[in-house]
Parts: sequence; structure tokens; C-alpha cells
Amino acid sequence: MPESYRVAVVGATGQVGRLMLELLAQRQFPASEIVPFASERSAGTMIDGVGVVRALSDETIAGFDLAIFSAGASVSREWAPRFAVAGAVVVDNSSCWRMNDDVPLVVSEVNPDALSGHHGIVANPNCSTMQMVVALKPIFDAAGIERLVISTYQAVSGTGKQAVEELGRQTHAVLAQRQSGDARDAPIEPAVYRHQIAFNALPEAGSFAAGDDHTDEERKLMNETRKILGDQSIGISATCVRVPVFIGHSEAVNVQTREPLSVEQARALLEAAPGVNVMDDPAAAEYPLATLAEGQDDVLVGRIRRDPGHDRSLDMWIVADNLRKGAATNAVQIAELLHERGMLGVPAPGVAV
Ligand SMILES: NC(=O)c1ccc[n+]([C@@H]2O[C@H](COP(=O)([O-])OP(=O)(O)OC[C@H]3O[C@@H](n4cnc5c(N)ncnc54)[C@H](OP(=O)(O)O)[C@@H]3O)[C@@H](O)[C@H]2O)c1
Repeated sequence: MPESYRVAVVGATGQVGRLMLELLAQRQFPASEIVPFASERSAGTMIDGVGVVRALSDETIAGFDLAIFSAGASVSREWAPRFAVAGAVVVDNSSCWRMNDDVPLVVSEVNPDALSGHHGIVANPNCSTMQMVVALKPIFDAAGIERLVISTYQAVSGTGKQAVEELGRQTHAVLAQRQSGDARDAPIEPAVYRHQIAFNALPEAGSFAAGDDHTDEERKLMNETRKILGDQSIGISATCVRVPVFIGHSEAVNVQTREPLSVEQARALLEAAPGVNVMDDPAAAEYPLATLAEGQDDVLVGRIRRDPGHDRSLDMWIVADNLRKGAATNAVQIAELLHERGMLGVPAPGVAV
């Protein structure tokens, strides 16, 4: 096993990719070389302190131990298996491989042992699922989970850098219109979203597949939560809403346990849970906020209370930085686990995808 690795970061010019580069350096991941990859548009540009951005080709992808992908599902579909065949373990941030039976879907604090079943590709969960399961895991272990009712309030950065620009642009335009008094004359033209996102809440985070009355984001929450917790019988109802927040997904989660669990027991479990920071003093206005989560790796949990409508249900409010724990941080934590477990720089146990 080598002591340091050749690492490819695919999507290195994106929001998540840039953060991954930063975290690999900050957390001193043992890399002998980190090579940034992006689209043809960015090939040849320089990322300070890292190197020149390369485009993907059979020649450029040779000789890596680890490839961390954050460039969307179509790029992962085409290039993740090629990296794996060329000898790298791929950690993929996209939705492409998450539900594949041969691909472990791993949250570092929740199911690290699932890594042992990898065949060259490991998937990083969807951001809204990721933060929720970090908070649910101790409750699941103590009392089981029968049903979840989830409402999300998701930041635009979850859609990519163009959505971040769209919120900024629209916010300026709406404020300018209000100041000049011509609000009715100049409609805001949405581009990334199907409606104006500034000063609005869109009950369509993700998109609707033909014939489905849930968005793909809502389906990801259902399917990925069951896969990560290893319990297909959990009932899950989800509504995912996009809100005009730049960074930080918030979630109202109603948890119906199988066994009785008091609020005090749940709070104690959460306080002891890795990766969780309990902020729960509503009288003092202390509870998780997107503005507090931004830039942190912890999942913030508060408003922990009994659901007055069901004696085995609790309500809670879960917030995290969707670009960090929801994406880049967990991807780098998976890379660290692969290193600690001697799973990098050795042949993958049969590339199966
Ligand atoms: N944002 C989140 O909260 C979040 C959470 C979990 C997972 N993810 C996943 O992470 C991925 C990226 O998200 P993001 O927010 O970082 O998006 P982003 O800011 O829009 O960045 C996209 C990245 O992908 C690269 N790319 C696009 N087409 C490519 C191609 N054909 N070949 C190689 N690279 C290509 C882009 O390169 P150019 O700069 O050259 O265009 C850029 O580096 C997505 O799969 C997303 O689903 C995001």
C-alpha cells in the first residue's frame, strides 16, 4: 500500500469541487499529486496552489489511486467506470450510482463498514439525505424508525453555481424594481428554476420525472435513507422546497420510532452522536440556522420536542452546510476511511459496474 496517492478531482472548478480541493489540503490527505479535471471549457486554466485543469480523456485518467467526482450524473455515468477500470477507487458525488446494488452509499459516521463491499465506485449521498441520516442514526439504533415525515427548505447552492448566480441576479432586480416602483412592468425571467426564486419558496426541489407526483429529490430522500440505514420498511413522506438561501439546507423532520423514546433520551443520544451539534434552547432563540451552519462540518439539530399528535413521534429541525457535510466533507471523509482501511492503491475487488 503506498503512503501517498495520486488523486483526481473531477468537477474541480465547481462549488463542491473547489471545496474538496480545499478540504484535501486542510485535512492533509496523503496525496502525492492532486490533478483537477473539469469540462473542455475550463481545460488549461490554472487553479492556484493546485495546478492546470485537465479535460477527461483515456490518456489523462491513467494512473490514479483515487478519483473524487463532482461534475453531475452524466459525467459520472461515462467516466467513473473508466477511472475504476484504470485502477482508481471513485468517490462519486452525483446521483448516478447511488442506488446500484454493487455500489455502497456511505455516510462516514453512519455506515462506514459498507465500504468493504465496493467494486471500484463508492457513492456519496444526496445532501438533504446526508444531513438527516447523521441525526437519525442514533435514534434508529436506539429505538428503530417506523415512519418519517420530512419538509426541506433547501439552498440554491444545491443546484449548482448557476443557481447561486440566478438568486443573486434576481434579488438585485426585484429590489431595484421595488425602489423604482415599476415592479409590475418588468417580470423576472427565471432560467435555472421554473419560477422566480428570489423572495419565493418553490415546492419543486429537483425535478418531476414523467408520471411521478414526487420530485427526484423527494425520491432520493426516500430511497437513499432506506439504503443507508439498511431498513426498507421505513415509511417516508417528503416534500422538498427550494428557498432563497445561498448555503445551508434546513429540514423539519417528524420521526416515529418503533419503540418509545423520550425527548430527553433523544437529546442525550444526539449530544453523544459523532458529527452532530445540538443547539436547542428555543427560549433563548438558540436553534439551528442556515447562517450558523455555513462553513461548518457538523450537522446542527434543535427544536427537539414531542409530537403532540403521536406518542411515539418526535419533531426536530436539522440544518447543515449542503456543500460541506452534504457533499465535499463526506466525500473527503470517505477518502480518509478508504486510506485508513488500506483500500487505496490496491486492486479493487472486481470492478462490477
Ligand atoms: N451543491 C450541492 O449541494 C451538492 C450536494 C451533493 C452533491 N452535489 C453534486 O455535485 C455535483 C456538482 O455540484 P456543484 O454544485 O459543484 O456544481 P457546479 O458548481 O455547477 O460545478 C460543476 C462542475 O462540473 C464540471 N463539469 C461540467 N460538465 C463537465 C464535463 N462534461 N466534463 C467534466 N467536468 C464537467 C464543471 O466544469 P466547468 O467549470 O468547466 O463547467 C464544474 O467543475 C453534482 O453532481 C451535484 O449533484 C452537489
